[in-house]
Amino acid sequence: MPFFRMRLILALIAGITIVSVSFTYFDVLAHKLALRRELERRSAWLGVRLQPEIEQAVASGQGDAIAAAVLRLHRPDETLGLAVYNPGGRLLASAGPADLFAGLPVDPLERAIRKNAEVSVFGHKGDAQWLEDVFPLEDGGKLNGVLVILEDARFIHAEGNAVWGRSFLRIAAFVVLIVGVTLLMVRWFLMRPMVLVAERLRRLRMGNADEAPDKSIADLSLFTPLAREVETMAESLLEARAAAQTEARLRDAGEHQWTAERLAVHVRARFGSSKIFVVSNREPYMHVKQGRETVCIVPPSGLVTAIEPVLRACDGVWVAHGSGSEDATVVNQFDRLRVPPDDPRYTLRRVWLSSEEESGYYDGFANEGLWPLCHIAHTRPIFRSSDWECYQRVNEKFAAALLEEMEGCSDPIVFVQDYHFALLPRLIKAARPDARVAIFWHIPWPNPEGFGICPWQAELLDGLLGADLIGFHIPLHCNNFLATVDRVLEARTDREHMTALRLGHLSTVRPYPVSVVVDSVARNGNGKNGISVSRDAFNGGARPSAPQALLDEFGISCEYLALGVDRLDYTKGIVERLMAIEYLLEEHPWHRERLTMVQIAAPSRTRIPSYIDLRRQVKETADRINLRYQTANWKPIILIERQCNHEQVDRWYRAADLCLVTSLHDGMNLVAKEFLAARDDDDGVLVLSKFTGAAVELRDALIVNPYDTAGVAEAIHEGLEMSRGERRKRMQRMRRHVMEHNVYRWAASILGDLRELRMESSSHEDPGPIGPESISAHRGLHRKLA
Ligand code: G6P
Repeated sequence: MPFFRMRLILALIAGITIVSVSFTYFDVLAHKLALRRELERRSAWLGVRLQPEIEQAVASGQGDAIAAAVLRLHRPDETLGLAVYNPGGRLLASAGPADLFAGLPVDPLERAIRKNAEVSVFGHKGDAQWLEDVFPLEDGGKLNGVLVILEDARFIHAEGNAVWGRSFLRIAAFVVLIVGVTLLMVRWFLMRPMVLVAERLRRLRMGNADEAPDKSIADLSLFTPLAREVETMAESLLEARAAAQTEARLRDAGEHQWTAERLAVHVRARFGSSKIFVVSNREPYMHVKQGRETVCIVPPSGLVTAIEPVLRACDGVWVAHGSGSEDATVVNQFDRLRVPPDDPRYTLRRVWLSSEEESGYYDGFANEGLWPLCHIAHTRPIFRSSDWECYQRVNEKFAAALLEEMEGCSDPIVFVQDYHFALLPRLIKAARPDARVAIFWHIPWPNPEGFGICPWQAELLDGLLGADLIGFHIPLHCNNFLATVDRVLEARTDREHMTALRLGHLSTVRPYPVSVVVDSVARNGNGKNGISVSRDAFNGGARPSAPQALLDEFGISCEYLALGVDRLDYTKGIVERLMAIEYLLEEHPWHRERLTMVQIAAPSRTRIPSYIDLRRQVKETADRINLRYQTANWKPIILIERQCNHEQVDRWYRAADLCLVTSLHDGMNLVAKEFLAARDDDDGVLVLSKFTGAAVELRDALIVNPYDTAGVAEAIHEGLEMSRGERRKRMQRMRRHVMEHNVYRWAASILGDLRELRMESSSHEDPGPIGPESISAHRGLHRKLA
């Protein structure tokens, strides 16, 4: 560092000196030139003044008269000397330094005589410096001699030296000042951040990467890009370390847990150079305005966690609706951008929808039609032909975008998500028979009678049967689907192998229970969020009061916390849940002023009337129960009607005694699994609706019928009464299950099976080529008469 500083100082001194000396040099030149001009002007003026008198004396032809005139006119304070020569160049008279006149060059004299014009020349000899000004003298228009005026020019040189002297001091002051300021700036803006960054890197090397970064690193605007890179590196290192630790821990425990890394390796090994294309309605990254800035947010969705490692592993493409207000401003001319923004690994292709398309396809057909059709929640589906047309158009639009992305890519793998794209598998398969296509239906599939009320059931089924693999959460939904196919279309279904053969194309139908990530390493049992939720001290059923830090915001305190986390959706049974709390307080007054239910209700699909109604109903029910039971410091219900981020929800999960998942119907319900994932203290009770897919797996939850208000109230009571030992046993079993059946395993199974199915289907009893003819023949839909 001292060497660097020394070099910097020397470079600064040299640089500033060269620049300053150059400036001064030109300054001195200019100054001297000005002085010379001034002297020439003065001498010319003098010449003009003296000329008539000297001409007169020379015209008289008398040497004495000339000498007398020269002596008289010479004033030492005005000129150095005067001399008069005849036209032959002979000296007639002089006043002033005789030796100087004797040594003057003859050239100026000769030129003035020859040209009969004034000539002025600067000269020097030894210390002497002068201006020699030669004026022609005339008599009757004829050259009669010349007058030489000598001016002392030494002062010009002296003036130049004085300027150099003054500049030297200025340059020295400059150098000192600039070197000082530069060193200070280097220290503040260069050394300090370097030291901070070096310190952060040192901590990384020592294994303390998870320590919060020094805030001042982020403040160093000049180094923000570097600081950001260091932080990204820290995160990557932390993730890599965590993954390695997990692997080591799992190897040690002989477990076989799926991780993002294992999923990536699995996908790479199976699919080689084939590219993976994912299609979903919700995009994994959304650009929105926050204040004046455009920021990138990750919409809360479990799907991103599962799909991202796959796409990262093979540099895939995710096609989704660009729904962020600023989405269009960050894509290239092909509507693509690389994501994740901090570490781009795959392509996001955004598809734009007009507001009319969005309302017909998303609000209308998908969410007012298919959503209530597939969920038995007794909200009547609405089927409008205009919405159906929109749905078809949007599916075609997505298919076109997807096909564009797939151009030039052989054996592509397409993984379509959910009920928004029932028609997509057929559209893709028709254009690209070489594509392997899977669709996962994230919501339930009702029985054939239920599905039968959809006027376009045949078209939807036909669209889905374009896929090679159709996934549902649980076997019941698979069976319902095959039964619906059986009922509606000409197709051969095989319940043993769970397949449907239609026009030579075989679709396999399988259950894949979706899941979450259990971040077992990062949590490791210490209250990550600063809230201690360990209840070990309260064995035998005794419990601590709910973490006050969370409740302070609401100005209440309570002893037990029941939690609900849902989108504000009528399938979630939120009103029924609140009524169960009311029933509990009525039947078991002991819970009054002790139990509070926190309901996080994230607004969803807010343009749809049934959702608007539900919002009002939930609010009214919560208000009514609160009015009935609340006291000064306690409320039975806290309704948080907003989107909460992962960390916020996590805090509530970890603080709750009981998590209530009482959906009227749900494909899986990930809140149940997220709650388990959060509880690394092995405590907490899950009350779970029997109508969720999760209930098939999580048998240690208290399983309830959400329509049975008294039953749910009893389960809550039972959960609150349960002993610590029992809670721990149940929680541990459920957590183990979720850890082993995490979301990475879900993605790996679907994609793995999709790979296998290709082999199976090629050895199948000749389903015939799946080509454009069979597809167009298919358009007739071969409905069964029933
Ligand atoms: C369900 C669907 C998803 C959907 C999510 C949120 O889980 O299966 O496809 O993304 O709800 O709903 P939204 O309409 O806000 O995307």
